[in-house]
Amino acid sequence: MRLSSSTFSLVAILIISLLLSRPYSSDGAVKCKEIAQRIKPCIDWMSIGYKSTGIVPKTCCNEIFRLNGMGVNREAELAICECFKSEMQDLNIDDKVSISISGRCGVLLPFPIVPNVNCSEI
Ligand SMILES: *[C@@H]1O[C@H](CO)[C@@H](O)[C@H](O)[C@H]1NC(C)=O
Repeated sequence: MRLSSSTFSLVAILIISLLLSRPYSSDGAVKCKEIAQRIKPCIDWMSIGYKSTGIVPKTCCNEIFRLNGMGVNREAELAICECFKSEMQDLNIDDKVSISISGRCGVLLPFPIVPNVNCSEI
């Protein structure tokens, strides 16, 4: 089979745009698995890291900024909230430590970052 160069370019563009749009799924739904990976530096800091440094890792703050931009509607906010909540479960995270992240990063998320947050109240 011989592909014309324009067909080839089209396929390439399609693949590239698919790759670029990966962090946000094609239907716009927020995927917890991806968020979980991104907020890992935050989870690490609030579970152990804070004991050695009061400074939240820049990687964590950057992701909080990005997530804040993703929470464009209530559905997305809810998904992000649920994801934070599930990632924080069973880690003995101190509310005072986790809630301080948004202030330390200078970002106000629409929900408090605490393990027992009630996401349906946001
Ligand atoms: C969360 O908030 C909603 C709405 O206020 C309430 O109906 C629900 O019972 C709450 N869930 C928990 C686990 O507290």
